[in-house]
Amino acid sequence: MSEISSAVDDKGLGATGRRDAWWVGPLLVVLGLSAFGVYSTWAAWTGNNYLLTAGGADYLSPFYSPDLKSLLGISVPFSYAFLILWVPLGFRASCYYYRKSYYRAFFLDPAACAVGEPKGRRYKGETAFPFILQNFHRYFFYLATIVLLFLWYDAGRAFFFADKLGQLHFGVGVGSIVMLLNVIALSGFSLGCNSLRHLTGGKLDCFSCSAAARTRYKLWGGVTFFNLRHMEWAWISLFSVGLTDLYIRLCCMGVLHDIRIF
Ligand code: FES
Repeated sequence: MSEISSAVDDKGLGATGRRDAWWVGPLLVVLGLSAFGVYSTWAAWTGNNYLLTAGGADYLSPFYSPDLKSLLGISVPFSYAFLILWVPLGFRASCYYYRKSYYRAFFLDPAACAVGEPKGRRYKGETAFPFILQNFHRYFFYLATIVLLFLWYDAGRAFFFADKLGQLHFGVGVGSIVMLLNVIALSGFSLGCNSLRHLTGGKLDCFSCSAAARTRYKLWGGVTFFNLRHMEWAWISLFSVGLTDLYIRLCCMGVLHDIRIF
């Protein structure tokens, strides 16, 4: 095995004996992350069309949640989204799955298993700046959990519509369902986080030795259930958050009309 890898290394970037379409995965990652990066940056930059109130609705874009403009009551000379988005950005950028993906797709380091990488780089892994910052992942998990709780509030709030007197009534619009599905997808991603897996089952030598340990084992099993599909949750939630913003934005702009189902 070591002879194969050194032969690949010697021939440089892209050298491989693989005959499968190994490049499809990295290519899809480049396209997916680039598309999301461009759209989310633009949506955050605009600073408008993120809150739909027409028809008594209260649909808040996930890029702008929590609604700091209302909560803080102050104005800032830039989009409120920038006060929030560093949290989910840091959470995703330091996620173990995303690291693997973008190290391969963008840095080609290596592009795939048994495929040659660029020559002349001194490999430091995550032991030096800037990648040593990846170790903050668990703290981003804590912060992202707070944001996620606000998103659950927003999704619940999207099922109540104000009448002309300002009284709230239960109702279901297409946007309510869009927001609910989005927060479920985001929860599926967070619940499979490796930091949460460590929190629930880490530093424990015996899973059956006490009631507390058995409880932790059950929690660890639940987190592992989501962790086994962490990649899928990562992509589903990435696109759901972008599409939820897009739906609310298009409704605010009058391009789409939110349909009340109930
Ligand atoms: Fe992916 Fe924590 S490892 S979110």
